[in-house]
Amino acid sequence: KRPGVLIVAVDGPAAAGKGTLAKNLASSLGLPHLDTGLLYRATARRMLDAGLSPEQDDGAAEAAALRPEDLARPDLRVPEIDRGASAVARQPGVRAALLERQRAFAQAAGGVLDGRDIGTVVFPDATVKLFVTASPRTRAERRLRQLHGDAAGADEALLEQTAQELAARDAQDAARAVSPLRKADDAVVLETDRLDADAVLARALEIVREREGAL
Ligand code: DC
Repeated sequence: KRPGVLIVAVDGPAAAGKGTLAKNLASSLGLPHLDTGLLYRATARRMLDAGLSPEQDDGAAEAAALRPEDLARPDLRVPEIDRGASAVARQPGVRAALLERQRAFAQAAGGVLDGRDIGTVVFPDATVKLFVTASPRTRAERRLRQLHGDAAGADEALLEQTAQELAARDAQDAARAVSPLRKADDAVVLETDRLDADAVLARALEIVREREGAL
């Protein structure tokens, strides 16, 4: 990264509120936002469409050469792609193919990127690193509300099932050999169970200002 360029890394497990925070932070700071999970999702989509398994190495790096229309697809947030993205994300060839694209996005003018390895691998020298977490229960509630509305967020059986799916995906993301989900040593943890989106944003902006003041 160039000196003076503001890069904010937002990492954490699935459905912790990273995407909402990153989007709000970017608009508050006047920076572009990149949802890096979408790159893995679009890669998985291309593999499935080509009749390939997201688990397979063959054809994976080629699938990661994404075109703009691959990222604009409406069907990237379905359960099949939740699992598929986590599977393709284990492939070193896929991660290498997507790495330069993520760096190029923010290198010149800065940006807010959310994902799993932004603070550890993509931008180890990011200006600010946030690690956003919430309990499995809170994350399951948020995911269900987001996908199916408030009533679904109160359905116990559905909550239990969703919490299990999120836990399985986090376990796979944290256990992989390349760029696992991990808090960078110098990341600030933002625990969001008791905070709404505005409160999380306010806290994150404080952290950014403190960090900028210290530079
Ligand atoms: O943030 P998300 O749920 O849309 O991400 C989908 C999957 O992509 C996630 O299970 C792991 C992978 N991913 C990754 O490995 N590294 C990133 N920087 C972002 C996402």
